[in-house]
Amino acid sequence: MLPAMTDSLDLLVLGGTSWLGGAVARDAVARGHRVTCLARGEAGTPPDGVTWVRADRREPGAYDSVADRDWHAVVDVSWQPDQVRSALAALTPRARHWVYVSSCSVYVDDATPDTDESAPLHPAHEGAGPVDIEVYGPAKVACERACVDALGAERVLLARAGLIAGYGDRSDRFGYWPARAARAQDGEPVLAPPGDVHTQVIDVDDLSAWLVHTAEQRVGGAFNAVGDPVPVRATLDASASAAGTRPTYREAADGWLTEQDVEPWAGPESLPLWLPQPDYAGFASRSNAAAKHAGLRLRPVADTAAAALAWERELGIDRDDRRAGLSPAREAELLERLDT
Ligand SMILES: NC(=O)c1ccc[n+]([C@@H]2O[C@H](COP(=O)([O-])OP(=O)(O)OC[C@H]3O[C@@H](n4cnc5c(N)ncnc54)[C@H](OP(=O)(O)O)[C@@H]3O)[C@@H](O)[C@H]2O)c1
Repeated sequence: MLPAMTDSLDLLVLGGTSWLGGAVARDAVARGHRVTCLARGEAGTPPDGVTWVRADRREPGAYDSVADRDWHAVVDVSWQPDQVRSALAALTPRARHWVYVSSCSVYVDDATPDTDESAPLHPAHEGAGPVDIEVYGPAKVACERACVDALGAERVLLARAGLIAGYGDRSDRFGYWPARAARAQDGEPVLAPPGDVHTQVIDVDDLSAWLVHTAEQRVGGAFNAVGDPVPVRATLDASASAAGTRPTYREAADGWLTEQDVEPWAGPESLPLWLPQPDYAGFASRSNAAAKHAGLRLRPVADTAAAALAWERELGIDRDDRRAGLSPAREAELLERLDT
């Protein structure tokens, strides 16, 4: 049996070798908890101060060395229903609380502004095996449902994360903007999406701190783990301030960007954070009231931009293998067309 609740928890992170899971593990260690990370090591290594159990969750017996003891809380970042189910089957009897990192991609409707956690979800993905990214949203719904079915709603926190940003981001999305600003001369034109549309990011350190807090407090239920809605233009200005430059943002309309085959949101040759309206009017304006009430604290977007820039500088702001954002050549071609 677990000892009575003490200040220090035994926390199992399923993951911890990648970005958010690593941040959760680091934060929990800093708060004095005893942290174990279970992962293969393909995504990286877990942070200092944790016990690392190397295991493949798709192999039989993957959880054997962590299933024979009690855990105050288990944190799972997987979006693969088979991995989530195998963890629940092995660990539920000895886990007092469960933190499942879900996503706002569980929601069907991206067009209606200001929705909360009661918004309709995708049907749960029904297959039993590994899933592809195309069914990410339904897979997350299946994972959420498996957690609640196994543990009951009160023992599970479903953290529906929105776009995560800050130091360590592997997607290159938010970081495109501080990196682009850092490359700009004063007054240099920079192609931008419409500035009055909102974006909504959560700093990885705010999210990880809150996840650890919810494990400590045994918070249960579904929560949108998202930042406050901020106009795109304010986010770009914060990026320029972090970089100490003054680019001239040239905002292009949704229709024009679509005609030029610019990719919205993410991916190679995309304009990151661009959300065509009205289809995505609700994508970046989800309510975070419940999470704030449950202890979520948010830093200003300027701090996130500064952290993202520090990370971008480590990766190299001139690198040509970005996972998201326009290449200089493509941006120059688009700016020239915008002017004619
Ligand atoms: N980035 C965003 O903006 C965003 C937005 C919304 C929600 N989310 C959610 O936030 C979470 C991100 O977490 P993250 O950055 O830590 O995760 P991640 O990059 O998705 O990495 C997955 C973790 O699971 C481990 N893993 C994968 N397959 C495994 C296997 N077969 N056996 C054992 N371990 C395995 C990986 O470690 P090894 O490869 O080392 O085994 C890694 O630590 C995800 O749930 C994601 O869906 C992200």
